[in-house]
Amino acid sequence: MTGRNILFLAVWLQSVLHAQLRRPPHIVLIVADDLGWNDVGWHNSQMYTPNLNKLAQNGVILNSSYVQPVCTPTRSSLLTGYYPYHVGLQHNVLHSSRPGHLYKNFTLLSQKLKELEYVTHMVGKWHLGFCNWNYTPTYRGFDSFLGMYSGAEDYYTHVTGYSPHSGYDFRFNKSVYYEVKGEYSANVFARRAIDIINSVNPKKESLFLYVPFQSVHEPVQVPKKYEDIYSHIQNKTRRTYCGMVSALDEAIGNITDALTHRGYMDNLLLIFTSDNGGPVNHGANNWPLRGSKNTLWEGGTKGAAFVYSKTLLKKTKYVNTEMFHVVDWFPTLLSVAGGRSDPGLDGIDQWPTIQSGAPSKRSNFVYNIDEIMKNAAIRVGDYKLIEGKPGTHNGWYPAPNNHRKHFRNQTTFHDIGALEYQLFNIKSDPTEHFNLAKKLPDVLKKLQLYLQEFKKTLVPAFYPPGDPKSNPKYYNGTWSPGWC
Ligand SMILES: *[C@@H]1O[C@H](CO)[C@@H](O)[C@H](O)[C@H]1NC(C)=O
Ligand SMILES: *[C@@H]1O[C@H](CO)[C@@H](O)[C@H](O)[C@H]1NC(C)=O
Ligand SMILES: *[C@@H]1O[C@H](CO)[C@@H](O)[C@H](O)[C@H]1NC(C)=O
Ligand SMILES: *[C@@H]1O[C@H](CO)[C@@H](O)[C@H](O)[C@H]1NC(C)=O
Ligand SMILES: *[C@@H]1O[C@H](CO)[C@@H](O)[C@H](O)[C@H]1NC(C)=O
Ligand SMILES: *[C@@H]1O[C@H](CO)[C@@H](O)[C@H](O)[C@H]1NC(C)=O
Ligand SMILES: *[C@@H]1O[C@H](CO)[C@@H](O)[C@H](O)[C@H]1NC(C)=O
Repeated sequence: MTGRNILFLAVWLQSVLHAQLRRPPHIVLIVADDLGWNDVGWHNSQMYTPNLNKLAQNGVILNSSYVQPVCTPTRSSLLTGYYPYHVGLQHNVLHSSRPGHLYKNFTLLSQKLKELEYVTHMVGKWHLGFCNWNYTPTYRGFDSFLGMYSGAEDYYTHVTGYSPHSGYDFRFNKSVYYEVKGEYSANVFARRAIDIINSVNPKKESLFLYVPFQSVHEPVQVPKKYEDIYSHIQNKTRRTYCGMVSALDEAIGNITDALTHRGYMDNLLLIFTSDNGGPVNHGANNWPLRGSKNTLWEGGTKGAAFVYSKTLLKKTKYVNTEMFHVVDWFPTLLSVAGGRSDPGLDGIDQWPTIQSGAPSKRSNFVYNIDEIMKNAAIRVGDYKLIEGKPGTHNGWYPAPNNHRKHFRNQTTFHDIGALEYQLFNIKSDPTEHFNLAKKLPDVLKKLQLYLQEFKKTLVPAFYPPGDPKSNPKYYNGTWSPGWC
């Protein structure tokens, strides 16, 4: 070989190595369903979540990471970067028989990452509409999909709905997938995620893996061995629920083991977040936060969340309290991937905050605006304004008999009128005990003006009535696209 050839070879090698170094990081986005604030090991030492704890404690625990009060809206924000009230999904969730869906004109994170040559896979719960194939995951930027279209179903039979409108809801890509009938979904999803991890070459391709688990949404079901971890908890619902959390933890441990063995960890960002607060009527717990899933209280909207990366974070092993909202993931992840988001998004690129603890670029956010429920909440600085009834579970709920002195403050609360305003200082009163609406009229006025301004851009809720054409009886007993 001549000196000139060697030089060429060296230059070529260098450029190949450089391209390798610059390869966009793998992104693994894990969503837990209906997980309460007090249902993870780093907030509650009685929870057995060793795998999650290890990731959280070696990563960055997000302590002011807000989500929507229920499932569908959070998923819409996560994948579009817009608040639900800008995409018409601010009211309730999509029920299987309703033809509502995420409008096609919004470009999803999966589609954006595909443009950046990511391989994109989804495993788990969709819950963004399925009445037409065009609204389903493999038409929305995902190379493959294994999971359920609806919001809730039996963890083993994968049947959802009540007779005579019940049906099987489990798919692999577009096909109904019967092979997993009888198997607990956390195991099915972990196995599929691992298959994907093993099928991609992490040195040659960038992976976007979106894993919105069914766990730990009701129905409250789990294999006995996980429930047995909590034999000291007498309340059956709580005991089973806690078991579900530990099964989820094991599934995530299996996924991260596969990521390690397959060599992803040198260039990977893992995000874990709940989709909303825990439903206290189904065994979840948000103590000491007020309220439940499906309320505008902190207990319904302050998510348990963390990020983990071995190589991409400049500051780790601490609790980050900077203001973050689920709409921010879209531009943040896109920026990590080397892409750009379109102007006008509600989300803000918060990578400096996540990566090195820089101050949040966000000083306010919208908890939700629901013109059908006639309620809304916003945050401006330390203050939170709630308009109307925040929901149906308005108290503070200690975890059922887990032997903690939780009853120290059983403050009573009155039923809140439909047009009433409440004002809280979340910084000094994160548990929302002291309504300041009367005490601070100027702050109240200021936040009311903010809310008026936010409301001007509301896209009406897309919440059509159920359609009998959706009935699984027309589709061999399965929930299927094709009726809108
Ligand atoms: C998408 O379509 C909806 C419904 O037609 C509309 O309200 C919204 O403004 C559109 N959004 C964008 C980003 O084009
Ligand atoms: C689903 O699609 C992926 C990607 O195209 C493919 O690898 C997988 O085999 C498909 N699964 C089934 C059951 O067809
Ligand atoms: C995790 O992996 C182990 C070993 O393969 C397996 O026995 C277990 O069922 C898996 N757990 C889940 C929840 O997938
Ligand atoms: C057990 O917990 C559930 C949900 O957290 C609650 O609704 C129920 O009342 C509790 N049961 C008893 C006997 O305390
Ligand atoms: C608990 O109750 C006492 C009096 O009953 C009150 O002074 C205190 O501020 C309350 N603490 C919280 C966190 O609400
Ligand atoms: C995290 O949030 C909780 C609940 O609002 C609060 O009690 C706690 O002090 C926060 N932690 C830090 C480090 O700010
Ligand atoms: C119809 O459903 C049954 C299970 O209920 C399944 O075994 C069968 O393969 C399905 N038929 C078709 C054509 O998909």
